[in-house]
Amino acid sequence: MLTALDAQLDGLARRRIDLAPRRYGLLTACDGGLLEVSGLSVPIGAQCRIGHPGADGRAALGAEVIGFRNGNTLMMLLGDPVLLRPGARVRPEGRPGMLPVGEAFLGRAVDGEGLPIDGGEPIRAQAQWPSGGVRAGALDRSPVRQSFDTGVRALNALTTFGVGQRIGIVAGSGVGKSVLLDMVAHGAQAEIVIVGLIGERAREVSDFVERHMAGEKRGRSVVVAVPADHAPNLRIRGALLAASLAEYFRSQGRRVLLIMDSLTRVAHAAREIALLLGEPGAARGYPPSALATITKIVERAGNSAASGGSVTGLYTVLADGDNQDDPVVDTARSILDGHVVLSRDLAQRGQYPAIDIAASLSRVMTDITTPAHQTLARQFRALVASYEANRDLVMMGAYRSGADPVLDRAIMMHDALSAFLAQPAAEIVPLAPSIAALGALLGDGGAAAS
Ligand SMILES: Nc1ncnc2c1ncn2[C@@H]1O[C@H](COP(=O)(O)OP(=O)(O)OP(=O)(O)O)[C@@H](O)[C@H]1O
Ligand SMILES: [Mg+2]
Repeated sequence: MLTALDAQLDGLARRRIDLAPRRYGLLTACDGGLLEVSGLSVPIGAQCRIGHPGADGRAALGAEVIGFRNGNTLMMLLGDPVLLRPGARVRPEGRPGMLPVGEAFLGRAVDGEGLPIDGGEPIRAQAQWPSGGVRAGALDRSPVRQSFDTGVRALNALTTFGVGQRIGIVAGSGVGKSVLLDMVAHGAQAEIVIVGLIGERAREVSDFVERHMAGEKRGRSVVVAVPADHAPNLRIRGALLAASLAEYFRSQGRRVLLIMDSLTRVAHAAREIALLLGEPGAARGYPPSALATITKIVERAGNSAASGGSVTGLYTVLADGDNQDDPVVDTARSILDGHVVLSRDLAQRGQYPAIDIAASLSRVMTDITTPAHQTLARQFRALVASYEANRDLVMMGAYRSGADPVLDRAIMMHDALSAFLAQPAAEIVPLAPSIAALGALLGDGGAAAS
């Protein structure tokens, strides 16, 4: 019996005894998710543990420093406040402001703290990355020069995106944002795909992990998932971890696709924290720092001239109540280099992905496509816009053909145009065939692709 314990005793005997003094703070107040700790001097962004691991083996609670006031440190819990008691000890841990990154994350699904949620073994991160990113000079950002293959025909042909571009998918709830992101995550040409599922449903997270973490593409993906019921600072951390992983791989010269579902939920989390700290709400209750948070996250994508790597960013933006003037929509639109608008009308008519092509735009398309291709894309838009503007007239039979040649052509080609925009979720259409199909549809004799 005693020999069975020998190995453990040996291990304990070999362990170095750490007699260095330790600093810890004391929990003095907890109200509405905000903790006040006295006697601690740690920077904002530092992680701490509160209390001792319980006798039942439950780990101590995690918390993050979000500010300080009157000599006290203000912290936010990373979990539930259950079992928190006054006077509990608060110990700092880890390097403040640094997040674990590295190749070990490839093929894994993790939470906002970088811990695995896929049931696999612990991740041994080889490197650390500043959570706020490494700010490069504006001139280190090389321009977008190469087209980016999304695997979705309508996007490839009509709003061609570039490597290193930042794109928003803007739509109301339940119009198909997540499904479209899923299609791009599956079909896009990228060496590494980092997916941040922030503030979404836990069921969607498990579906996503199941679908994308199997098969041969597994080794190129990382999923960072923080569902809606997690603390707001954990949601922000998840978004920062996804962005940091993308930046790390870019610094290694890789072509990264960073997908974030959803940017709006990141803004909501930032709003919760800012309001808790007493910042006044401005536009629709969003304090300025909440909108600044999403601007900073979006700005982290782009091409790096130094490493030759790139981060192409794809972010979903929820247009609350289909309102396109929402402050998050406005901020995202102004900072992004392109947006895809999904329309509830089209979705209700059963056209998926429900891309409203007239309202969607890629700001770099003219730099990366041939003039012939641009002409065709413009023609396509004009036809769709003409049909949509006169749809009611046409449906009522009030339009007499011959009055408007563009509308005549649009009516004649309507089914073909809708079929071009639609694509089953499991299908991948690469860039060249997408452009060729556009040429064939509008009859250019193959000039667009050349
Ligand atoms: N390409 C598609 N093919 C068939 N059905 C689709 C497609 N895209 C979306 N749908 C339908 O629309 C529903 C909602 O889609 P999705 O979850 O992508 O919406 P969402 O915009 O992400 O919603 P939320 O804002 O609530 O997250 C899906 O459950 C599905 O029924
Ligand atoms: Mg969704």
